[in-house]
Amino acid sequence: MSLPALDIHLTADDADAALREDARRGLTSTPKVLTPQWLYDARGSELFEQITALPEYYPFTAEREALTENADAIARTADADTLVELGSGSSSKTPVLLDALHRAGTLRRYIPVDVSPSALEEAVPGLIAAYPGLDVHGVVADFTSDLRSVPRDGRRLVALLGGTLGNFEPDGRKAFLAALADALDPGEAFLVGTDLVKDEATLVAAYDDPAGVTAAFDLNVLGVLNRVLGADFDPDGFEHLAVWVPQASRIEMRLRARRAMHVRVPELDLEIDFAEGEEMRTEISTKFTRERIRDELAAAGFSHDGWFTDPQGRFALSLAVRR
Ligand code: SAH
Ligand code: AVI
Repeated sequence: MSLPALDIHLTADDADAALREDARRGLTSTPKVLTPQWLYDARGSELFEQITALPEYYPFTAEREALTENADAIARTADADTLVELGSGSSSKTPVLLDALHRAGTLRRYIPVDVSPSALEEAVPGLIAAYPGLDVHGVVADFTSDLRSVPRDGRRLVALLGGTLGNFEPDGRKAFLAALADALDPGEAFLVGTDLVKDEATLVAAYDDPAGVTAAFDLNVLGVLNRVLGADFDPDGFEHLAVWVPQASRIEMRLRARRAMHVRVPELDLEIDFAEGEEMRTEISTKFTRERIRDELAAAGFSHDGWFTDPQGRFALSLAVRR
């Protein structure tokens, strides 16, 4: 399906080429590793939606609570006519922010940006119908390499919700924040949601739910490699793990080989071996403290103008202003 309100900055061919490059690097490195954006094909995006409804996956509810309570204050400070949302997915929490910007009387344009065309195809028509008069323009793009989707005109608020900043490696996070600061003018705003450090049991349960939805989300990436690269991964040969790594302050999702396996990846002209018990990392999800996010934002050229948490203090929204 193609929609007039969707701009494609990343075609399916571009995405496949990027996957080939990333998979070649990640599957031949030690330990094996994949970047998390490949989790979000149409089925992965759908599984992520199911994750957000799990009782163990508190970040979604906690961020929505923090947003609902503080959206008007955020909208007043941002004073934006354009909301750009990076990694918008289903945009399910966005109406809280859109309504507040609307109440503040400034809003004219909403630009959801996602690597997943299916997520935008699902979300954009509903937003157009719900907000007549709002210019809604979806963009399929990779925000790690392409911030052209952030328009140059208008007064902009860029949002990165859900804790997605935590999915970057530290170096990638630094580069992303610097590139975003570069794309904004002094006085413009960045709203970023970050999950906070807490006890290990709560964190691990959020990423290894008993219903097995997160396991299905994680294992789905093997289906992506099979489909796009012609690989012959046997998903039943792997189990999902969620591991808290305190020294890096992050949860790692990993796929552990249940037995020794030989895997062919014809599109890469590659054959790889997994030893029994070998783990491949498929996602990191960094957990922050207030000081850490403030310092990282400051290093990129943002001041930390607002800190809003849910009542239980599980998740935080930071409102940063480009200096
Ligand atoms: N913001 C939503 C969705 C979070 S899930 C929420 O808070 O619920 C993360 C989203 O980011 C997914 O929709 C995924 O497709 C998107 N995403 C992940 N990596 C991306 C990248 N490199 N560029 C653009 N979008 C990306
Ligand atoms: C999108 N991102 C912030 C989620 C997270 O919590 O790191 C992705 C996710 N992975 C497993 N469950 C949810």
